[in-house]
Amino acid sequence: MTMLLDKLGRPMHDLRISVTDRCNFRCTYCMPKEIFGRDYAFMPKDQLLSFEEIERLAKIFVKLGVKKIRLTGGEPLLRKDLPHLIERLTKIDGLEDIGLTTNGVLLEKMANDLKTAGLKRINTSLDALDENLCKKINDSGVSSTHILKGIHKAKDLGLEIKVNMVVKKGLNEQEIVPMADYFMKHEIPLRYIEFMDVGSTNGWDFKNVITKKEIYTILSQQYRLEPINPSYIGEVAKRYRYQGSNAEVGFITSVSESFCSTCTRARLAADGKVYTCLFATNGFDLKEMIRNGVSDTELTETIKKIWGSRQDRYSDERTEETAKNRKKIEMSYIGG
Ligand code: GTP
Ligand code: 5AD
Ligand code: SF4
Ligand code: SF4
Repeated sequence: MTMLLDKLGRPMHDLRISVTDRCNFRCTYCMPKEIFGRDYAFMPKDQLLSFEEIERLAKIFVKLGVKKIRLTGGEPLLRKDLPHLIERLTKIDGLEDIGLTTNGVLLEKMANDLKTAGLKRINTSLDALDENLCKKINDSGVSSTHILKGIHKAKDLGLEIKVNMVVKKGLNEQEIVPMADYFMKHEIPLRYIEFMDVGSTNGWDFKNVITKKEIYTILSQQYRLEPINPSYIGEVAKRYRYQGSNAEVGFITSVSESFCSTCTRARLAADGKVYTCLFATNGFDLKEMIRNGVSDTELTETIKKIWGSRQDRYSDERTEETAKNRKKIEMSYIGG
């Protein structure tokens, strides 16, 4: 089969699947309580893709070239029986890698089942070690000690684990060095993520972004960093090794050094809409097609058309105007 390429010559290599739009956190930069309050209308259950539907679509995406699937949310571990879905996905011929991105609240409890189901890699978010600050950011009273227990449990079980830290000016820059110290000591890769203008509800402003360059400068006062070559084209993080150590640190630079030219990621939302960019406004409803009884061939042709006409490069073209005024899907809906 010839390789499926988009309008800018980018192959479809990864599929990020959001399995729920719900989350047990209310991170102030993602799901602020004022908007995602008690009355917020999350997706009704019957609008979520079933595991059968997810598996069917995943198989088609893999036939079209996807090698890597990442499960996201909201918080994916809130989706009932998630390990069953993982078990089914691991059996797909041609799929090389399955990862999960979680806030870590349920990780200690679920790490064993995830591992047994065949999961190999987990990325956990943690924005501060300081207990009060951690609770303030997640706005749900969960301590960093609790998240760390989940992280260590997963690591002890042999799961490959990485930590994501969103850095936002005026919120958690004082945690940049303590986080580096801790995760270097434990040889767990830490990735600093520049605060992004995803969605329309998180009050993003460029003045709240701390760029990779600034974080690098802060770290350089303490550590010598050596660049590591990307392990594959399109790797999201720019990675470094602390000199004299096996530990790694990375930067996800969507704002200061965008990486759209190598972006190979398709995104499937929990309601079955497919998106070709994290900052998209509209998606294409595959669930409706499935529930209308279309064949795999029709789904395949549709996905080919969607990817074939893709031209997204939002971060390359970002301006104050698009960042503030464009109506974008929410991060909690599409899973980052
Ligand atoms: P690995 O397979 O471990 O490299 O995972 P990942 O880094 O692709 O996934 P993860 O869910 O941990 O994402 C980390 C951060 O990178 C999140 O904030 C994502 O929103 C961001 N990210 C991932 N893919 C993209 C992308 O295509 N564009 C932008 N702008 N950000 C992305
Ligand atoms: N900017 C950058 N990263 C974000 N995340 C959530 N919202 C934002 C934002 N506005 C991160 C989460 C998680 C990952 C999937 O995306 O903390 O680690
Ligand atoms: Fe926080 Fe992730 Fe939940 Fe958003 S989806 S509120 S970033 S834990
Ligand atoms: Fe890909 Fe869109 Fe992110 Fe660019 S902004 S890297 S096209 S998801």
